Amino acid sequence: MKNTAQPLLEEYQLGSLTLKNRVVMASLTRGRATNPGLVPSPLMAQYYAQRASAGLILSEGTWMSPKAIGFINVPGIYTQQQIEGWKLVTKAVHDKGGLIFSQLGHIGAASHPDFLGGELPAGPSAINPQTRSFTPEGFKDTLTPRELTIPEIKQTVQDYKQAAQNAKEAGFDGIEIHAIVGMLIPQFLSLATNHRTDEYGGRIENRARIVFEILDAVIEVWDSTRVAIKFSPVALSNVGIITPDHETIPMFQYILQKLNTYHLAYLHIVGPAEDLTGTPVEALQDNYFSHFRRHYTGRLMANLGFTQESGNEILKNGTADLVSFGAPFIANPDLVERFRHHLPLSAGNRDTYYSGGETGYTDYPEAPLPSHNTPGSVFH
Ligand SMILES: Cc1cc2nc3c(=O)[nH]c(=O)nc-3n(C[C@H](O)[C@H](O)[C@H](O)COP(=O)(O)O)c2cc1C
Repeated sequence: MKNTAQPLLEEYQLGSLTLKNRVVMASLTRGRATNPGLVPSPLMAQYYAQRASAGLILSEGTWMSPKAIGFINVPGIYTQQQIEGWKLVTKAVHDKGGLIFSQLGHIGAASHPDFLGGELPAGPSAINPQTRSFTPEGFKDTLTPRELTIPEIKQTVQDYKQAAQNAKEAGFDGIEIHAIVGMLIPQFLSLATNHRTDEYGGRIENRARIVFEILDAVIEVWDSTRVAIKFSPVALSNVGIITPDHETIPMFQYILQKLNTYHLAYLHIVGPAEDLTGTPVEALQDNYFSHFRRHYTGRLMANLGFTQESGNEILKNGTADLVSFGAPFIANPDLVERFRHHLPLSAGNRDTYYSGGETGYTDYPEAPLPSHNTPGSVFH
């Protein structure tokens, strides 16, 4: 139904899936898979079910193979035990009338030997991404990784396909490929971390090749309308040496042009966190999402720093089809209801973002709803 005041609350048809609204819960790593097998727990099922009023939930970034690991207590989706754990999550969300995609991630060069049995992590080139890995012993600086061989790249693509199959078995409604800065895919895209001289390095088409090999592999398992990808083209800080370069805009131009032929569920784009003036992507400063809107013909999901007001606005002016909210979902499990009733949002406690068991995870209460009899209540 049309909701001219709040398009965020409108029902939305995403291929064959009917979303109750256009408020998407973005992926949030919460570090609650605190068991050696990195298996999703009943506590995680409870957490996701509490947030099932979102039009669509995107799972936390989830390791698609043991080689993908690089952050403490993040769940995987490569063992049968993990698949069984995820079944609890997907059932809990479906029982509450929600929908959930699995976000499949690989951290590549930004991992640490502590996660890999003492072996060096591997990336597109033997170049230290100069970021930090959150290990069981706390944050550690990344090291110079090994360069992936071509057979290893092909195996990684096959591992994505297997993980996509596992997500299907676990009862997810679709998958999102995790390609924001910090992960393996942007390490291939970036001039700073990809110095390869083979078909995965050099010109734009080569550096972007892995994106399309992964998409081609996973759409053998899922209909393309159940597959999405999330990029952060202009992440500027806290991401080591990967920052936008003079080829970022043409690189995404190429990616968008090719993605137009894929008929994906949606393209998920993270916006700029900082002013782009004086950077190689300055041209996107005043027309960021409309740039992607213009060059991408499929559904666009916008992210980063949206509020009820700016989320409604970007849908109203047609620049995006869906809006995702990350941090606001941490302390507001009932975010959609708060938008509906114009209730204030609670702030999450950063100390329990990545640890703390149920504290700061499943103990954030829903806001009391205004009584129907209260004069002046606003219902939309
Ligand atoms: C605690 C935390 C964990 C996150 N984990 C992930 C993740 O696993 N995968 C991902 O794509 N983004 C992750 N993000 C980024 C969010 O999905 C989102 O892009 C970002 O928070 C911006 O949206 P917001 O301003 O609505 O929070 C995380 C963000 C936070 C705050």
